[in-house]
Order: sequence, then structure tokens, then C-alpha cells
Amino acid sequence: MEERLQKILAQAGVASRRAAERMILDGRIRVNSEVVTELGTKADIEQDVIEVDGVVIGSAEEKVYFAFYKPVGFLTTMKDPQGRPTVAQFLKDLGSRVYPVGRLDGDAEGLLLLTNDGDLAARLMHPRHHVSKTYRVKVRGVPSEDALRRLSAGTIMLGDRPAAPTEVYPIKTGPDRAWLKMVLHEGRHHQVKRMCSQIGHPVLKLKRTAFGPVELGRLKPGEVRPLKKDEVKALMAAAGFSKTGRRRLVQD
Ligand code: URA
Repeated sequence: MEERLQKILAQAGVASRRAAERMILDGRIRVNSEVVTELGTKADIEQDVIEVDGVVIGSAEEKVYFAFYKPVGFLTTMKDPQGRPTVAQFLKDLGSRVYPVGRLDGDAEGLLLLTNDGDLAARLMHPRHHVSKTYRVKVRGVPSEDALRRLSAGTIMLGDRPAAPTEVYPIKTGPDRAWLKMVLHEGRHHQVKRMCSQIGHPVLKLKRTAFGPVELGRLKPGEVRPLKKDEVKALMAAAGFSKTGRRRLVQD
């Protein structure tokens, strides 16, 4: 996120805002190797190289990334005004202030990513990047071939525009139930439930098993694990950051 240089310098503990302004005017600050003397100049501490007297400064807070198995019955929010159970109780011992990337319904379960990296979180949720989400879905009844085709084709209307094409793979069927794997490339409100209802097979159970390149794996309900370096790298790439750093591949 871009902010005024004096604010960045103050937040990084370099100096007060007033003193930081003086340092800018005195030509002591460089952004991406260029001396900056204009007070209105904006920069992004995550993406630009900011130097004070030749020393590069970093953001104050270390970025952390976790995978969490949200159990059924917990809301994806840090505080519920009505006092219902939320995911907050699982996150308080992580030692960092993290928050969930996107949401899962209260009656859904599975993978939620947690981070204090607001920039990455925003990009992962931005429709432009089409980061996939994979679900294991139990539906009432057994959908016909035709119903499955409709589910995947990108013709089901959700409000005023159709759902994007969706990958749909039947896993197994019972006498009056079916289990599907669905891979969505967008994330609209209650999307899986709304899509399945539209083909006449309401969702009975919903579990997110992957978010982009990160898999739920062997996590159990309520468990948290730190993401591996490779997983963070893959997420960055999925969100449009280059592999070597946070320089943008896609311009806003
Ligand atoms: N689709 C839904 O309907 N609910 C979720 O929680 C996620 C996707």
C-alpha cells in the first residue's frame, strides 16, 4: 500500500513525522535509488527500496502466514456483536495479530489462510487474480450429467451475472447423496451453495480443501500450521507478485 514517505519513516521508527519531513527536505532519503525531496511523495515499504542515509529500512512487523482448519460452527470474524463463537479463539495464541483471508460460512469448514500481510490478502481476494478455491461438496440427491454440465459451464445466473466457469468432478454417489469436488475461480457470496441450489441439489456439507496452491492436507479441525516458504512463494505468484520479490507483475 502506498503511503506518504514521512508516515512510512515515522512508522518504521526512523524519526517523528516532523523530523522525517526535515530529512526528506535535506535530501537524506532515497526511494529506489533516487533522492526524494518532495514532501508529498508516496512509496510502498513492501515494494520500494527506501534508504535513510544509505541504509535500507524495512517494515516494522514481520509478515507471518498460516493455514487454519476452521471447524463447523464458527464465524469467520474476530468479534461477533451477538456473541456467537468466532475463529478468534483459535488465533489468540499465534503471537501475531493475524486475520483471515476471505471468509467461510459458519456452517462450512476447512482451509482459511491467516496473515498480517494486508497487501497479499487484498490481492488474493481481488477478482482480477482468479485465485482458485477448491471445495469438497456433499449435495442432496444425485445430479444428472446434464446438471453437472450446467454447474461447470458458466451459465448459472447468480444475481445479475453468471457464475464463472467452474471445474466440477464427481467423487462418489450414494442412493440419495453425491459428493463433488468443485474448483472455483471467483469468490462470490455463498457461491457454492447458490450454484448447487440452482441445479436443484442443495449443499448439505461444504469443506474447503485448498486455497490457490495451498492445501488443507492433514490439518484437523481447529489446528493451525505455519505455511512453508514454498507455499508462501506460490501464493505470492498466484497473487501476481514475481517469484523473486514483491515487485508487481500486474500494475494496478
Ligand atoms: N461457497 C459457499 O457457499 N460458502 C462458503 O463458505 C464458501 C463458498
